[in-house]
Amino acid sequence: MERRKFIQAGSLIVAAGLIKPFQGAEIPVYSFEERIEGPMIISTWIHGLEANRAGWSILENGGSALDATVAGAMQTESDVANRSVGIGGRPDRTGHVTLDACVMDGDGRSGAVGYLEGIAHPAAVAKAVMEKTPHAMLVGSGARQFALDNGFATIKTPLPEVKKDYLQWRKENKELIKRPKINHENHDTIGLIARDAQGRFGGTCTTSGWAYKMPGRLGDSPIIGAGLFVDNEVGAATATGLGEAIIRVAGSAIVVELMRGGMKPSEACKEVVMRIIRKNKDLTGLQCGFIAMDRQGNVGGFSVYNGFNFALKTQTRDEMVDTEFDRKW
Ligand code: GLY
Repeated sequence: MERRKFIQAGSLIVAAGLIKPFQGAEIPVYSFEERIEGPMIISTWIHGLEANRAGWSILENGGSALDATVAGAMQTESDVANRSVGIGGRPDRTGHVTLDACVMDGDGRSGAVGYLEGIAHPAAVAKAVMEKTPHAMLVGSGARQFALDNGFATIKTPLPEVKKDYLQWRKENKELIKRPKINHENHDTIGLIARDAQGRFGGTCTTSGWAYKMPGRLGDSPIIGAGLFVDNEVGAATATGLGEAIIRVAGSAIVVELMRGGMKPSEACKEVVMRIIRKNKDLTGLQCGFIAMDRQGNVGGFSVYNGFNFALKTQTRDEMVDTEFDRKW
């Protein structure tokens, strides 16, 4: 079926309640036109469903958008089966699992950690950096010491099965810098953005980064303006995909600025994705996606390649939304 018709058909089916939210089979596809009233939370990829539910328990009790997104991020960070976020994440090329995260509140405050090793919840540590230090970002051993000093739980990484994969990878890979294929079957990063009952926005982004990256590499996820940007005057945006490309266009900050200028979330996400496409001659393996929401209650996203989707939770919805994209794999 032609894509637009498929989207419309999906929309009617979902609106009529004929398809239940994602059950492990076909993900319903529809263009999201309605304006959402009240609290809402959206998160990148299928792991966003569970994350949103964790965040929703805070939103429905009148909690803040920021706290909801941190709770959601922590849910994904503790998923031992997830290979791109948190304790189940893949290591760098020397075998060290290093985690990156940032948080931003709609009032402009932010915190981040990068290259954090052996700490289970980098998103919560990023929030503590925001709340307890005069800084916006701590990295490496300093971030770890800060986390230990503040009583954050430790974890031994890589997990045994992740280490097994890594040792196999090391045997097979002479070429060490290879772009990972980032898509729904190998989803990367969780970015969560939310609006609470008071109309405040907040966001969190957390990842273990590019699998088998060079030691010291940070992607977009811990960088405010790249992986995440939030402003109560406008809304919020977050990113997933190849961090190098997202950093180079200040991706999430630009999405928010384009919305400030009047674009809808999906239009703003598309404009930034098209900039990435224009600035990168080699698009092989270069998947990037953005999701965004605005003060009017619009939500949307866009990605370079097909296969990107986001989870949406509101008072009445709990489901996956496929985004539009520029090209097919
Ligand atoms: N988007 C995650 C990363 O590039 O590290």
